[in-house]
Amino acid sequence: MRDCLYLFRERPPAAATAQHEKFGTTEIAKSVGLSGMIVTIDGPAGAGKSTAAKTLAARLGFRFLDTGAMYRAVAFAAQRRGIDLADEAELLRVAQEIQIELRDPLVLLDGEDVTRALRTMEVTSLTRHAASNAGVRNYLVALQRACAEGQNVVTEGRDQGTVAFPDAACKIFLTATPEERARRRMQDLEARGEKFDFETVLARQHERDQRDRAREVGPLAPAADAVLVVTDGMSMEEVVDHLEMLVRRKQ
Ligand code: DC
Repeated sequence: MRDCLYLFRERPPAAATAQHEKFGTTEIAKSVGLSGMIVTIDGPAGAGKSTAAKTLAARLGFRFLDTGAMYRAVAFAAQRRGIDLADEAELLRVAQEIQIELRDPLVLLDGEDVTRALRTMEVTSLTRHAASNAGVRNYLVALQRACAEGQNVVTEGRDQGTVAFPDAACKIFLTATPEERARRRMQDLEARGEKFDFETVLARQHERDQRDRAREVGPLAPAADAVLVVTDGMSMEEVVDHLEMLVRRKQ
């Protein structure tokens, strides 16, 4: 997010969570007064979501919410503290204790720049514990809503159109074939100095896809009212042009 600083202490997350428990998923969107326009972009890893969402947000002058970075930050913080990530209560405690600031292009964890550290293969793999932890999801979704309150936002993740913002004005599900996504992921990793062969990247991606789709809480799925966009063979500019057209139609 270009100029936005999320200081979670400003809005007690407990209050947001309590509202969530009281009102349920759909009602909270109304109860916290989401008066801005919310654009959700969900889809599997490697579909080009991040770059597309970021560029779209910049074009529209909207804020950008990278929800994957939040799950990554929780996993990374837990790993650093040496806690067992499979211990659900402990992991939730870590999530509640840390401060994540999304200052595009930087992600700060308790004030420290962890942008690069969050994108390694190791952290990517550990993040599954945060993503499948119902308490952590509930907590982060409440934070996402608190952050978006009254703002024009492009939010990117897996459950943004289904769980976090069911009343969003514009919902997009961005995807591409597995091979295309793995090729993009390899380029991404290489740019960061990590080298893996194509088959390894494809196999790990397949595992993550399966897990993302099968988990009980916040599974990867298009919302019933989402527009499906398959990005194979499209340049990033073409993708963003298309998304912008979809948003402008709803404005
Ligand atoms: O988009 P990403 O690769 O940075 O996401 C990292 C992990 O977090 C990935 O395993 C999916 C998960 N995630 C999620 O479960 N829900 C979200 N809203 C965003 C990401």
